[in-house]
Amino acid sequence: MDKVNLPIGVFDSGLGGISTLAVLKQYLPNESFVFLGDSLNAPYGDKEKSKVIQLSKNVVNQLLQFPVKAIVIACNTATSAAKNELCELYPDIPIIGIEPALKEAVDSGSQSILVMGTKLTLKLEKFNKLLSQYSSNTDIYRLACPGLADLIEQDIDDTDAIDQLLGKLLKPFLNDPIDSIVLGCTHYPFVKDRIQNLFDKDINFFTGFTGVAKQLEQQLKDKNALTNSNSKGTIEFFSSKKDNNGIQRYKNYFEFAVENIRND
Ligand code: DGL
Repeated sequence: MDKVNLPIGVFDSGLGGISTLAVLKQYLPNESFVFLGDSLNAPYGDKEKSKVIQLSKNVVNQLLQFPVKAIVIACNTATSAAKNELCELYPDIPIIGIEPALKEAVDSGSQSILVMGTKLTLKLEKFNKLLSQYSSNTDIYRLACPGLADLIEQDIDDTDAIDQLLGKLLKPFLNDPIDSIVLGCTHYPFVKDRIQNLFDKDINFFTGFTGVAKQLEQQLKDKNALTNSNSKGTIEFFSSKKDNNGIQRYKNYFEFAVENIRND
């Protein structure tokens, strides 16, 4: 196969990255994608950095076997922990990683921003550098959400459990003048409406998906690696967890994301 028509590899700790994939597919419809969810090892957000590096390397090695022409880390946690190591290991392949969209939120004029993310993302240097860059004129609050990605991973229809956890996590912020929320974990856009429901005003949400799609397009352009196909590309789903309906669940989440998650 012509190298430019190889698929793009996308991965996450589980099915959260499907939210990113849905936007990438809308943005670059003729590209083909291979999605690999490490659902066997989800969640990444409560693990040590070294463990997330090891798991991410393992997933990338599997994606490179297909082969793929670029890698998108559709996981804020894996980007924070492992992107530098992955870029050093594989200097010849474009590697793009999603990060909390703090810049987009500040650039939009938000005055009071809540960043929701995993424990590890919010603790690591990458995010804290970003925070110090943007916090001089804007109020920025951090909210680690242990357990949330896990609930979304298990069953997005368990709305009682999801609402209960969200209510508990967000309680301290419901009466604050928050105008924007950065969804700094790719699982969270699946429950964006449930988060909005807890506030009695409209919140601006930021996911960073468009930024990732643009970076991916630019890096492929720079390498003359954009597909030359005139027809729609394919998507293949793989999971490290071998349960019976795992791939069907991935496809269902993809349909949900295409319907409900836009380029915020
Ligand atoms: N979806 C991942 C992220 O964007 C994290 C979920 C997890 O595995 O903890 O951070």
